Amino acid sequence: MSKNSTYILAIESSCDDTAAAVLHNDIVMSNVVAGQEVHKKYGGVVPELASRAHQQNIVPVVHEALREAKISKYQLSAIAFTSGPGLMGSLLVGTSFAKSLAMGLDIPLIDVNHMQAHILAHFITEEKHHKPTFPFLALTISGGHTQIVKVTGYFTMEILGQTLDDAVGEAFDKSAKILGFPYPGGPLIDKYAREGNPKAFKFTKPKVGGLDFSFSGLKTAILYFYQAEVKKDPDFVEKNRNDICASIQYTIIQILMDKLKLAVKQTGIKQVAIGGGVSANSGIRKALKDAEQKGWQTFVPKLEYTTDNAAMVGIVGYLKYSEHDFDQNGYTENNIVAKARLSL
Ligand code: KG4
Ligand code: ZN
Repeated sequence: MSKNSTYILAIESSCDDTAAAVLHNDIVMSNVVAGQEVHKKYGGVVPELASRAHQQNIVPVVHEALREAKISKYQLSAIAFTSGPGLMGSLLVGTSFAKSLAMGLDIPLIDVNHMQAHILAHFITEEKHHKPTFPFLALTISGGHTQIVKVTGYFTMEILGQTLDDAVGEAFDKSAKILGFPYPGGPLIDKYAREGNPKAFKFTKPKVGGLDFSFSGLKTAILYFYQAEVKKDPDFVEKNRNDICASIQYTIIQILMDKLKLAVKQTGIKQVAIGGGVSANSGIRKALKDAEQKGWQTFVPKLEYTTDNAAMVGIVGYLKYSEHDFDQNGYTENNIVAKARLSL
């Protein structure tokens, strides 16, 4: 098949979303995600249950992605899959499925780094979405990571700063859990924050040097605040829900924006992109857009490319396929394996 007409099937299974997508070159033909309700009652992702749910979901999800893209598996040029970082049991489901399908179809298998995918999602061709040019800064904010990355090429990325403890998504989810919201609480905090006063309650921001982050202190501060207030008034959360959420979100966004400003100052790079699940947050999306007044050029992903999805894996697959930067026969060897820990 000519390089001008590349069809990539992409598979993502690093955490608790089973996802498959089909890309025709850099255009998304289908993007299917099956979430996993099973974790809600446990207040967080249970690895064994995630792995089992991936096993149940993967075949129907891939089937649906091909059906929506209106292509047959025999038209595929290559299969891209997330090899890490993530939960080992979850990664293994996508990895073994992708390997066997690539082997069966005798087409290349392309391994994709999940965090690179969150950043490179900006290179999917979409109406009304401008792509960044190199170099740019990327703030990747998800349930497992918080990083400021200097991106000088598709596959040349340098981490300038990252969290020393909790990821920002965890800060959202753990705060939400304290308030009694179900998992994942990030989207709920976002929802209630829209109706609240961000200055109603004040939480101190962590003092971490350079471009690194820390969120565990904020989580503890919110816990102590909650305990003290509920002792005075058991209905405190009910009465002040929106203001509490707005204040937590405001504090988190200030922490992120302060570091981004420092990164822009230190590097002189004024193109700034966000990616990862937390980039779905309406507050951070607005804060970034507002920063354009400072002369920044900002890039906010479409909502469907923020939380875990396979379209972002597909664009990395396409970029690697175009550059032939993958192991043609990787699936016949042992060099393509799932890696729970994987740096950029
Ligand atoms: O990228 P992602 O889907 O999975 C990981 O790679 O971790 O990110 C999931 C995280 C969760 O912590 C979730 O609460 C958070 O993204 N999240 C949000 C919002 N939507 C998802 N956090 C705040 N506001 C949102 N609207
Ligand atoms: Zn992610």
